[in-house]
Amino acid sequence: MRADNTRGFASDNNSGVHPDILKAVSDANTGHVVAYGDDRYTRAALIRFEATFGKDIDVFFVYNGTAANVLGLKSATRSFNSIVCAETAHINVDECAAPEKFCGCKLLPVPTKDGKLRVADIEKHLHGFGFEHHAQPKAISITQPTELGTLYTHAEIKAIVDLAREHDLIVHMDGARISNAAAALNSDLKKCTRDLGIDLLSFGGTKNGMMFGEAIVFFNRALSANFKYTRKQSMQLNSKMRYISAQFEAYMSNALWEKNARHANDMARLLKQGIDDIPRVRITQKVETNGIFAIIPAQYVQELQKAFFFYVWDESTSEVRWMTSFDTQPEDIKTFVQLLKNKLT
Ligand SMILES: Cc1ncc(COP(=O)(O)O)c(C=O)c1O
Repeated sequence: MRADNTRGFASDNNSGVHPDILKAVSDANTGHVVAYGDDRYTRAALIRFEATFGKDIDVFFVYNGTAANVLGLKSATRSFNSIVCAETAHINVDECAAPEKFCGCKLLPVPTKDGKLRVADIEKHLHGFGFEHHAQPKAISITQPTELGTLYTHAEIKAIVDLAREHDLIVHMDGARISNAAAALNSDLKKCTRDLGIDLLSFGGTKNGMMFGEAIVFFNRALSANFKYTRKQSMQLNSKMRYISAQFEAYMSNALWEKNARHANDMARLLKQGIDDIPRVRITQKVETNGIFAIIPAQYVQELQKAFFFYVWDESTSEVRWMTSFDTQPEDIKTFVQLLKNKLT
C-alpha cells in the first residue's frame, strides 16, 4: 500500500508543480493566440533558450522526455545505424523499445559500474565501419546526471565528444535532470552541454518543477532540418503550445531551474548525512545529485514504503532508490531518517 499525499522518495516525477510555473500557465490563459507555437509565449521562451544556450540553436518542445530522447536520436540516425549507451540508460531500460521502434536502430548497451560510459568501453563498439554486415555506429547517448544519480565531469564528457568526432559520431545528452547536474557542478546549462561539444540535448523540466513538456535543443543544426515534420508525424506537436512555452519561460527565468535543482540536491545530501551512520544501510553509488541508491534489509522494505513510498531498484540485492525533489522538505528527511534508525539500528 502506498502512502499517497505524503512527500515520498519514489521519484522527482511524483512531486507537484512549482507555484511560479502554475502562475505562468494561469497568466498565459487569457484570450486566443495562434496554435502550434506561432504565439508570443513560444517566441519569448525561445529567446530565453537563446539567452541560456547562445544563438544559432534550434529548439523544439515535445510532451515528454521519452519523445525528446527518441525523436532527437531519430533526427541523427538512420535505421542501419547503432547507438552506444549505458546499460542503465533510460533509452535502454525505460522507453519500452521506443528508440528501436522509431529510430529502427540497434542499441549497444554498455555495462557500467556507476551509469557512466567510458571511452574505453565505447571504443569496443566502434568497429565495422563501412562493412555492410554490421550496423553502423552513429551516435553516443549519455545521461547527465546518470540514472544512478552520478555525474560526469566536464573532462569525461569532453573525452567522449573527442572520441565521437574521431569516428564521425554525434553525441546526444539525455538531460532529463540536467539542471541537477549543472547545479551540482556549480556550472551553467551552456557550459554543461554546448560548450562541451554535445550535438543535441534532451532538456528536461518536468522532474524539477514543471507540469509537463520537454525540449530538444539542437546545437548541431545540421540535424534539425526536417525535425518539424518528424515531430508532427510522431504526434508530439502540441496545438496549445503556449502552455508548454509559458512553463519553460518561467522555469528559465529568475534561475528557477537552479534554485529547484540545488534544493533537491541539498535534500539528498541531508538524507545521506542522516543515514551514513546506520550500519544496515549501505549506500552503493556516490551521492552527487538528487538520488540515493542503498542496500537495506529486504524484510523492512514494505513497511518503510508504507510510510514513505520509494522503489526497489534491484530485488536481487534489495537495493532501493530514494529520490529527492524540489519540494522535499527538511522535515520529510528528518522523519524518514528517524524511521530508518528506529527500524535498522
Ligand atoms: C534519465 C531519464 N530520461 C528521460 C526521462 C523521461 O521520461 P518520460 O518520458 O517519462 O518523461 C526520465 C524519466 O524518468 C529519466 O529518468
